[in-house]
Amino acid sequence: EWTPDAFVETTIAALQEKLGDDKVVLALSGGVDSSVAAILLHKAIGKNLHCIFVDNGLLRKDEYEAVLEQYKHLGLNIKGVNAKDRFLSQLAGLKDPELKRKAIGRVFIEVFDDEAHEVQDVKWLAQGTIYPDVIESVSVKGPSATIKSHHNVGGLPDFMKLKVVEPLNTLFKDEVRRVGRSLGLEDFIIGRHPFPGPGLAIRILGDVTAEKVAILQEADAIYINNLKEAGLYDQVWQAGAIFLPVQSVGVMGDERTYENVICLRAVESVDGMTADWCHLPYNVLAKISNEIINKVKGINRVVYDISSKPPATIEWE
Ligand code: XMP
Repeated sequence: EWTPDAFVETTIAALQEKLGDDKVVLALSGGVDSSVAAILLHKAIGKNLHCIFVDNGLLRKDEYEAVLEQYKHLGLNIKGVNAKDRFLSQLAGLKDPELKRKAIGRVFIEVFDDEAHEVQDVKWLAQGTIYPDVIESVSVKGPSATIKSHHNVGGLPDFMKLKVVEPLNTLFKDEVRRVGRSLGLEDFIIGRHPFPGPGLAIRILGDVTAEKVAILQEADAIYINNLKEAGLYDQVWQAGAIFLPVQSVGVMGDERTYENVICLRAVESVDGMTADWCHLPYNVLAKISNEIINKVKGINRVVYDISSKPPATIEWE
């Protein structure tokens, strides 16, 4: 029978055997998968694991600082890289979701490649790929193609010639969480909702600007904090706010306003392949809506997404 403890023990031994004294680079995303992969590798090879955490400017509010701090606290050999401007400038004017994903994927690879070259004699690239990613990246390449290019799988340019190590590629998400707990990772990392690689860029419909990102970060933080305060965060599989560049009319004092819309999304799911919208309590929704409209400049309307997957998807792009 599969147990997380046994998995940890055999995987660490196997990694030591496979990697010896080689150096390994790994891109941390702040998510569960790459974090668990990093801790496993860190236990196996210590400082020979070089972690890189890129701030693409598309993370949740204050996420970069909080997560970097947490990783340092865990003793990881980690370098934070501020690449916000590089991402934003490459996104400028792009409206098509696939072009946005491609631009983000490309800049990520450039930044990561620069950083990986700083590590002398690196031999391996480690990734937090889990079993569903393996399946999905196969199906994305299939004839029905161009579903969504998940840039976090199979991503590096050939010339890097690194061997790839993926210690979690046989596990499902719930198993990864159990392994994380067995490794002593805190809920701050283990319990977090899935978050897409392209981040807030695909939660802003159409073109992305620094201003829209800032508005969405504020609204999203209010949303997520309220879910936590209401004790609902752990009951929801994934939640996030979406910025809709739709100007609808509102009133502020004697003036009419034409501002944007924030859509709240919360779903229940097992693996993200299908999902039901969550029946969040009205009083919680009311509080979130008031707080967003009162505090976030540029928003005068909040709506709640009551669509399930299929046929709707979890993200809006
Ligand atoms: P959809 O929107 O396809 O989302 O129902 C299913 C799950 O996948 C995540 N997602 C992504 N993750 N890169 C990622 O790393 C992406 O481009 C991407 N698009 C969607 C989404 O957040 C949900 O958990």
